[in-house]
Amino acid sequence: MWMSKFKKLIAKKNKTKIVSLTAYSKNIASILDNHCDIILVGDSLGSVLYNYKSTREVTLSTIIEHSKSVRMGVKKSLMIVDMPHNTYRTSKEALKNAKQIMKKTKCDGVKLEGGKKIYETIKTLVKNKIPVMGHLGLLPQSDKTFKFKGKKKVERDRILRDSQLLEKAGVFSIVLECVETSLAKLVTQNIKVPTVGIGASKYCDGQILVFDDLIGLNPINYKFVKKYLNIRKEISKAVSNYSKEVRKVKFPNKKSSF
Ligand code: KIV
Repeated sequence: MWMSKFKKLIAKKNKTKIVSLTAYSKNIASILDNHCDIILVGDSLGSVLYNYKSTREVTLSTIIEHSKSVRMGVKKSLMIVDMPHNTYRTSKEALKNAKQIMKKTKCDGVKLEGGKKIYETIKTLVKNKIPVMGHLGLLPQSDKTFKFKGKKKVERDRILRDSQLLEKAGVFSIVLECVETSLAKLVTQNIKVPTVGIGASKYCDGQILVFDDLIGLNPINYKFVKKYLNIRKEISKAVSNYSKEVRKVKFPNKKSSF
């Protein structure tokens, strides 16, 4: 059963784009589920929800609790959960923690950041029937600077090599984060599994965004984000109306009272 879901996703390569978004809770996930192929419980929740300085502070229990909530809203999309920093330092540690994530959240698979260094780890997870999504390019869990990747030849060669290694290890897809356009195209053309880009051009097989960025809840503007809504303005309008009505004793009214 789980295999067919992933086969269907992989079959989209070169046919139709893969649509993906992050979700951290049930109600949002249930809306996204009608429009997405993949819903990711990303460790971006560390900065988006908790104001952490980096995703490195996100713990296994935090991601599991949010994923349990998201699970209640996702019926048809693939639900993938990020393995937090320091939860996959060895194959043994990764297997133990990935099993826990899969068991407690009933997700479809996990995502890990990195290339050659985690090749054996990914192989171990896949051998144990845990579907894995790779993540190359900018790696928020380990990168010191948040610059796009693919300027230098050594970096380009490494990312291309890593993508081929991840494919060999058995990933069903790879996120490419902040990767220069021609490199994203090259990687996408050189592997059989789909690439899902964020800040990685139109040449990837699909696209992912952090949902809070898409709706403009996050006030920061990133080059690679398109805000499809100004939700801060809408929330502000609604809350302003509410506060006026409370102060004028218009709400609660008779209709909303017992
Ligand atoms: O944590 C996250 O939300 C992610 C996406 C940005 C790909 O890894």
